[in-house]
Amino acid sequence: YVHLVAEAMRRAFADRAEHLGDPDFNLDMPLDKLLSKDFAKKRFENLDMSKASTSDPAQFGHPYDGENTTHFSVVDKDGNAISMTYTLENSYGVKMGSEKLGFIFNNEMGDFNPVPGKTTSTGQIGSNPNLVAPEKRMLSSMTPTIVAKDGKPYLVIGSPGGRTIINTVFQTVLNVLAYDMRIDRAIEAMKIHHQWLPDRILYERNLLSPDTRDALEKMGHTLTPTTTIGVLMGITYDASKKLYTGAADSSSEDGGARGY
Ligand code: DON
Repeated sequence: YVHLVAEAMRRAFADRAEHLGDPDFNLDMPLDKLLSKDFAKKRFENLDMSKASTSDPAQFGHPYDGENTTHFSVVDKDGNAISMTYTLENSYGVKMGSEKLGFIFNNEMGDFNPVPGKTTSTGQIGSNPNLVAPEKRMLSSMTPTIVAKDGKPYLVIGSPGGRTIINTVFQTVLNVLAYDMRIDRAIEAMKIHHQWLPDRILYERNLLSPDTRDALEKMGHTLTPTTTIGVLMGITYDASKKLYTGAADSSSEDGGARGY
């Protein structure tokens, strides 16, 4: 499972580095191709089920710092859902706010690719679509997500965590939809993160068993432990019971689930 999911992540992040940036500046982003089943199939043609592939930085990087992002998932009594990730970056963004609107402005300049052409094995991306330019919007990893079932919100989910957000939300959606986990279990379940570069699987130290780690290393993966990945906040709706269930990641110091 971890090998397959990590290889999918590796490929998705390589494609993101190559193609994605502000659509106003990247008129030829091949979205149809990226979303097509044919392309997905093609991307997996070189996947070896017994061996890790390699991430090649020669083609294209992205410093990111800060722990200043937060996420809210909300559903009201009429079933309207909001999934909102709010990012400031270090030291209160640009240190200015709007009294009228009631929020602080962020500073996302670090979300641009910093140096044209400089893609490094440590994870800095230098590809064109997300290079800095006047009036251009930087590429965000925020993934506020609402999954609908029969046209109604079924799962509302999101997380902070920089580039880990995409994979954190991806695995949580997978846990709920494919593995039928209850939302609290899905949020707490073991998460990994692979972002193409650096070429390694980040894993939650206490949640990936030693024998799985051993098997992955034998397949050629490099493993790096971390305490925890993501700070998820989620809600699911069970239409048959007309029941909303909310859960907050136990790694959150001040998060929580509330009903009213
Ligand atoms: O928009 C982005 O991708 C980043 N500004 C998010 C940063 C973040 O999640 C930091 N939180 N831990």
